[in-house]
Amino acid sequence: MTLTGVTKATKPYEGQKPGTSGLRKAVKVFQQENYTENFVQCILSAMEGALHGCTLVVGGDGRFFGKEAVAIIIKMCAANGVRKLLVGQNGILSTPCVSCIIRKYKTAGGIVLTASHNPGGPNADFGIKFNISNGGPAPDGVTNKIYGLSQSISEYKICPDLQCDISKIGTQEYVVDGNPFTVEIVDSVKDYVEYMKEIFDFGAIKDLLHGAGGQPPLKVLINSMHGVTGPYVRRIFLEELGASEDCVVNIVPLEDFGGHHPDPNLTYAADLVNALKAGDYGFGAAFDGDGDRNMILGHKAFFVTPSDSVAVIADNTDCIPYFKKNGVKGLARSMPTGCSIDRVAAKKNVEVFEVPTGWKYFGNLMDAGRLSICGEESFGTGSDHIREKDGIWAVLAWLSILGVKKTTVEKALHNHWQTYGRNFFTRYDYENCEADPCNAMMAELDALSNDPSMIGKELSHGSKTYKVAKVDNFEYKDPIDGAVAKKQGVRILMSDGSRVVFRLSGTGSSGATVRLYIESYESDPSTYAKDAQEMLKPLVEIALQLSKLRERTGRQEPTVIT
Ligand code: G1P
Ligand code: ZN
Repeated sequence: MTLTGVTKATKPYEGQKPGTSGLRKAVKVFQQENYTENFVQCILSAMEGALHGCTLVVGGDGRFFGKEAVAIIIKMCAANGVRKLLVGQNGILSTPCVSCIIRKYKTAGGIVLTASHNPGGPNADFGIKFNISNGGPAPDGVTNKIYGLSQSISEYKICPDLQCDISKIGTQEYVVDGNPFTVEIVDSVKDYVEYMKEIFDFGAIKDLLHGAGGQPPLKVLINSMHGVTGPYVRRIFLEELGASEDCVVNIVPLEDFGGHHPDPNLTYAADLVNALKAGDYGFGAAFDGDGDRNMILGHKAFFVTPSDSVAVIADNTDCIPYFKKNGVKGLARSMPTGCSIDRVAAKKNVEVFEVPTGWKYFGNLMDAGRLSICGEESFGTGSDHIREKDGIWAVLAWLSILGVKKTTVEKALHNHWQTYGRNFFTRYDYENCEADPCNAMMAELDALSNDPSMIGKELSHGSKTYKVAKVDNFEYKDPIDGAVAKKQGVRILMSDGSRVVFRLSGTGSSGATVRLYIESYESDPSTYAKDAQEMLKPLVEIALQLSKLRERTGRQEPTVIT
């Protein structure tokens, strides 16, 4: 079929600035005339010389407006000189799977259609994220370029007559302006599942689930929250590992995630928590909309903080064939993440990195061969097997550990604390506040970093007193390319190693979301079993008073506590 690309005139839209993880806005914003087209053109134009003749991956979490966006992207790539697209069947690819496919087929990058854990549907959110050829989210240099282009865009290229059926696996060939253009519709899960089978010992996990060598079977409950992981869970847990149907729930992806927040935390995955509390399951897990986040629970809903989860995985790499083969080069966490993994790095004598919030900051370190395992407190866990965090990978890692070490989730954690001490951690989220007072609060907190009277100051609540050792607004210089990221969150560091961190979310689609992170370290074994909220209460209160957060936001309670 011979087709022609056309150039259409357009005008810039304000605010097409990618946040922590791509451009996220209300669906209605993306549906405005040329809004999506503008942003896609800026992504393609930012590729400059690498665009012509390249191959790109396209897919997303199946949320509302995803199929429309895929159709636009196909038509625009055709007119912009792209040679080939690998598109997930029905537009479905989890974020980790996009990363996997980009790397496996060595494509120039990929476009991920997701707003991650934000709700979906006509009145909720959509998102577009660009990943580069290493499979990871575009770094700041690229997203800044995309944003710059969006401010002056005057035209875009599209091939309006191109029709492509994305529901059938197979290859469709076109000729656009005399050049060949191929769209290959790929199985949404195949490449990813094959890769997981290389990384993990599926036989050992199967033994764990079914019982072997005198061990009783482990009953698991996996909740896909109607996000994109459904088909992956079906293939891996039901078909490959032979788990029974009652071990998986919400595995049919829905465009609106059933009307819920597809965010695996104690608030939004409350049904998983309640199901585990009943005591019938020994292990529970949930994933977010696009499959990069995970929450791990043990028997009776014993909660594993994501900061501890990645530390336990890093401490038990001998249970995972991928690491036995490749070794562990270094470890990392985002700045607000609890510091448990630092202690593992110290013991194993490997480098540890503290990067700003956002998975894109891990990519360079992995590419340079200096980072193997990393995590974020926001339920992100992953390794250098791809360049995105990976929810299913985290669950398979945990199951590998439980199988090899013949232990339970709770025992694994207690064992970890006995060795390293416990980093108590909590995060308070104040979602969708008014932006101006939050910005003012952050400015005031930022000013504290230049206030010499803060150093040595004693802050008390009840019988607890903390002494301020340092206040700063976190700044990071990438050790590989020297890029500097400034003002990544105000940190108040106490003399006993406890920390308070404030930052504004970069993923919200409107208003401001304040995140308050609190951490303290204990090496007294009698505290290990204590409730984190109880332990951290005085420091939380100190942070709230210091920042006047309640007065500023008008919120007495956070929206979500993790
Ligand atoms: C949040 C998390 C961050 C994560 C990002 C994408 O970003 O805090 O760790 O990388 O989502 O999943 P934030 O909204 O805080 O900018
Ligand atoms: Zn996500």
